[in-house]
Amino acid sequence: MLILGIETSCDETAAAVLKDGRHILSNVVASQTIHERYGGVVPEHASRAHMTAIVPVVRKALGDAGTREDAIEGIAVTNRPGLVGCLLVGVSFGKALAYALSVPIVGVDHIEGHLFAVRLTDPEMRLPAVCLVVSGGHTELVRIEAWGRYETVGRTRDDAAGEAFDKIGKLLGLPYPAGPVIERTARGGDPAAFSFPRAMMEPGQFDMSFSGLKTAVRYKVEERGDLPEGAALSDILASVQAAIVDVLVEKTLRAAEAHGVATVCVAGGVAANGPLRSRLAEEAAGAGLSVVIPPKELCTDNGAVIAAVGDFLLSKGRNDGFALSASASREEARAGRYSS
Ligand code: KG4
Ligand code: ZN
Repeated sequence: MLILGIETSCDETAAAVLKDGRHILSNVVASQTIHERYGGVVPEHASRAHMTAIVPVVRKALGDAGTREDAIEGIAVTNRPGLVGCLLVGVSFGKALAYALSVPIVGVDHIEGHLFAVRLTDPEMRLPAVCLVVSGGHTELVRIEAWGRYETVGRTRDDAAGEAFDKIGKLLGLPYPAGPVIERTARGGDPAAFSFPRAMMEPGQFDMSFSGLKTAVRYKVEERGDLPEGAALSDILASVQAAIVDVLVEKTLRAAEAHGVATVCVAGGVAANGPLRSRLAEEAAGAGLSVVIPPKELCTDNGAVIAAVGDFLLSKGRNDGFALSASASREEARAGRYSS
């Protein structure tokens, strides 16, 4: 089955063509740069930029895959959660295309999309597993019982880890999104230069909190009286990164142990972070767990993972049809247990 996946929930316009649920024929991502100067995503700018980008991005995805649109057998589009004006661009475009091609369309949960990066990476991985989903909007520990059946076993009580990277970056004068810039600038810095807080580390606790870290960095900057540069900046950033990575890795391993799973995995934009990837791989191996870490391009927002969920849902016979709408929130996840 040839599926077109579309993702427009935040500041990436993305489209991909996936064959038989596994083979990525194309994966095109257009990242909006307009938000750099504002230090965060401006929703109105984002939806307008999606409108400009959606047609060329989908055309390129079809072209890169060497396929024509009439070969597409189903469409998958992120319809929740996210910025509603942004989601609506993808959903409206997807519905129009589904109508024109007379093919089914399914709405995909963005977080389930991130989870499917793991399935695309290792379709035979052993379940149940605990997955750390860590992005700009979400930080959750999800127990994957089976594909389509999930339970949230821990989550941030305040900022998402990516949001913490971005807000701390803004505080230090770095452009948005700051996560990748922090990783680069932290290289060569001393991760032990500052002992920033690691919150909520009590045993049996799988929730997380990152807002105290942001406050601690703000106090450090105020104490100095100016923005750090050079080696001082590298030291602060290496220490911030170490604090975030420590919490994420520790919580993931503890949740795996408490929930009796043999596999851990990671997904979402922050999973592109090198130190997080290497620490998780090392510590999971040390604890005798198998670990799945998707390639970086499948961790950040993209259409291939959305198409992968779409293939899964469409092959079960689901078709949301033209009643499909977009939603900023994610009702299903509220109760903790959910399924696609
Ligand atoms: O999953 P994603 O592309 O979009 C959301 O669903 O939020 O994640 C974007 C987030 C941003 O907060 C960005 O700063 C962070 O992922 N990020 C990183 C890295 N690459 C992206 N954070 C730390 N290190 C990175 N290398
Ligand atoms: Zn995302």
